[in-house]
Amino acid sequence: MTATETSGETPTITVGEHRLELEVVPAVEGSSGLEIKSLLSTTGMVTYDPGFTNTAACQSAITYIDGEAGILRYRGYPIEQLAEKSTFLETAFLLSHGALPSAEEAQEWEARLLRHTHIRDDYRRLISSFPREAHPMAILSSAVAAMPGHYHEVFDITDEKQVELATVLLLAKAPTLMAYALRHSRRQDKPDVAPELGYVADILRLSVGQHRRWEPDPTMVRALDVLLLLHADHEQNCSTSTVRNVGSAGANLFLSVSAGISALAGPKHGGANEAVLAMLEEIRDSGVSVADFMTRVKDKTSGARLMGFGHRVYKNYDPRAAIVKQLADEVLSSLGKRDELLDIAMELEGIALADDYFVERKLYPNVDFYTGLIYRAMGFPTSMFTPLFAIGRLPGWIAQWREMMQDPSTKIARPRQVYTGPAERDYVPVQDRSTA
Ligand code: CMC
Repeated sequence: MTATETSGETPTITVGEHRLELEVVPAVEGSSGLEIKSLLSTTGMVTYDPGFTNTAACQSAITYIDGEAGILRYRGYPIEQLAEKSTFLETAFLLSHGALPSAEEAQEWEARLLRHTHIRDDYRRLISSFPREAHPMAILSSAVAAMPGHYHEVFDITDEKQVELATVLLLAKAPTLMAYALRHSRRQDKPDVAPELGYVADILRLSVGQHRRWEPDPTMVRALDVLLLLHADHEQNCSTSTVRNVGSAGANLFLSVSAGISALAGPKHGGANEAVLAMLEEIRDSGVSVADFMTRVKDKTSGARLMGFGHRVYKNYDPRAAIVKQLADEVLSSLGKRDELLDIAMELEGIALADDYFVERKLYPNVDFYTGLIYRAMGFPTSMFTPLFAIGRLPGWIAQWREMMQDPSTKIARPRQVYTGPAERDYVPVQDRSTA
């Protein structure tokens, strides 16, 4: 009934007697797109692609991934070069402004961000209303959603100056809100920021609960900076697509990013970094052997997965995971720590990389496999791992939201469905319904 032909000049799709010529949307690198906007009006059919495994929802000039080759680039720059030579703040600028900053722009950008890291007293009421055991991702998502109520001056999503200010406020205040969420769980009050330490050093200080005159360890600060940078964008992943979907309705940056934070909390996405640590601890504490654990994750009926392994796009070693693994070694040896959980992780990886189940499915360690071990060594509690991912991902969410808002082809996100429910039937009054 249907046939698609792409070898000739113009790809076409034929459904019965309907023939549709498909326009090619060319990619600079990677897969080009087949434009199927008029499929429904021409053929009466829709595409069916659960999980959007084969659907490009937008054109984007921000991030390029080649999952087969293990390549990740932000605005054309390889992740390895950025991790070695750039900083999180510079990369944040690169993502949302499209180019690396000049020395003067970089200085202004950092100074502007650091001027805004404090949070208003109103947040005391908001955050203290949460139970102490509330997960910091829930608090962070709510607090970010509450921001438009506090900053009316950044409401107009069509005004570039307001959008730039919203960008700065979000990047500046989200880490302080994250730290406040942690402090709330510890019965501590609103955090007192120390911008003079620098953006990343102060995130570390606030989260590990140090006083203002604390002297940060440069190795730890640099490691955290690199970790945040590695998470800064990953094209159309689940949380970023959520940010774009929400923003496509005209929602402001804060509300859109708050939705992205909620999506990121899931254990198949950003929540995997917490889940990895829980898995490693379970193996250590239960006394089950690594080999037996691996048998369990391969058994589909167990419902267990090897957390921190596998990726929708990478069918090769995640290039971020390679950098993180090296960083884990550096941080642990600089702290003079031996972590038995790292030993378990390395054993799991070794078995998985040689096991047919993982090899056939091209399952490799992803960015989350080793990050938790580094955060733990730095002194972060497990509940802060996913919020740290969120802070790292902010520049990407912001850049993608801004790109979408400027794209004249943006339409409200509104997928179709293939309906499988009952055909039309008549309403039955309650007294006439049979009890099954
Ligand atoms: N452990 C065991 N089996 C797995 C795993 C895993 N971690 N990941 C995938 N599989 C199997 C899966 O059962 C399926 O097998 P089969 O073809 O026999 O049914 C096959 O591999 C393909 O899996 P999928 O679920 O269809 O693949 P997906 O692209 O929909 O899911 C994923 C990708 C990341 C959700 C998945 O690999 C996973 O759940 N991994 C563990 C969670 C994790 O580490 N998430 C972090 C992702 S990276 C950071 C981020 O995006 O936030």
